[in-house]
Amino acid sequence: MAKYECNEHMENFLRELPKCEHHVHLEGTLEPSLLFNLAKRNNITLPSHFPPSVEACAVRYNNFADLQDFLDHYYIGMSVLITENDFYDLAMEYFKKAHSDGCLHSEVFFDPQGHVERGIHIDTVVEGFDRACKKANELFGTTNKLIMCLLRHLPAESGLKTIDDAHKHFESGVIHGMGLDSSEKPFPPHLFTECYKTLKDRFPQVGLTAHAGEEGDHTFVSNSLDLLTVSRIDHGVNSQHDEQLMTRLAQNQTMLSLCPLSNVKLQVVKDVSELPIDTFFNKNVPFSINSDDPAYFGGYILDNYRAVHTRFGFSTEQWRQIALNGINGSWCDEDRKTELRQLVHSIHNKYKDLI
Ligand code: HPA
Ligand code: ZN
Repeated sequence: MAKYECNEHMENFLRELPKCEHHVHLEGTLEPSLLFNLAKRNNITLPSHFPPSVEACAVRYNNFADLQDFLDHYYIGMSVLITENDFYDLAMEYFKKAHSDGCLHSEVFFDPQGHVERGIHIDTVVEGFDRACKKANELFGTTNKLIMCLLRHLPAESGLKTIDDAHKHFESGVIHGMGLDSSEKPFPPHLFTECYKTLKDRFPQVGLTAHAGEEGDHTFVSNSLDLLTVSRIDHGVNSQHDEQLMTRLAQNQTMLSLCPLSNVKLQVVKDVSELPIDTFFNKNVPFSINSDDPAYFGGYILDNYRAVHTRFGFSTEQWRQIALNGINGSWCDEDRKTELRQLVHSIHNKYKDLI
């Protein structure tokens, strides 16, 4: 439970600390209010077992039994997204909120197969999201990158087709990377070796990541590194159970994109204090702190930072290191990284003697 206070100075420091988010699913930022508005706008009737109101969502979303129970709601939720404007509106809401939380660089996931299988063209999805990335950059000065995820509950052939469908968007640089999400345990990394190899052969510079070690054990993490050649890991909490893997992550500075409030809401742990965040820090395993599906898990990036602070009580110097690790693990260019690092140092200097 919460052991440390987040006093006013600390609260301001955490908000102003330049943050990078690497693990947020745009479809998971669909707040119930927007969900019901879009359902109305697009004449979509939600299934009768879906919570019928904003209030009912708040109750149901607070009681997910596990990852699959959440995903069953998440796929129904995204069914209200139809037009390019819907995708634009969804992403803009997220970028606005992230900016107000002091998040200056976001690398955001989306699930094209979840839309294409409902008859939505991939270009509709990508163009809506890309327009929002550019508008957010213009309005807020934030930098943003799109990462396409493959759904691991679908066959690798569907993944390969999605890679083909997205070809021109990788070529133009509008999609910057690829990840792997959805139900983890029944669908281990080796099933997607060919998908990752195909994309990497076509675009050697592409960023590669995968969800691993959220519900799956530590072998999901090492196999994602070995077979999928990913350069970072989404979640990865179960890496803690393999010392060799921990050493490997530290030596190669492979970043884990942790999602503390998600882990609580999906019953991975009972409380954020049970996560091995201090162990990762002390063993020099780099991590970033992220919101995953904030509309479903009740917290955006700053809420996650605050939850970590109240459990682990990191010093401003430790927070500076966490922020720098997030910049190092980002896929933005070196100039942007230099700019972000300078901002981190100046916010640290502003607060270090106050806290
Ligand atoms: N895990 C796996 N797949 C997902 C998640 C998650 O936390 N969120 C959206 N798709
Ligand atoms: Zn996720």
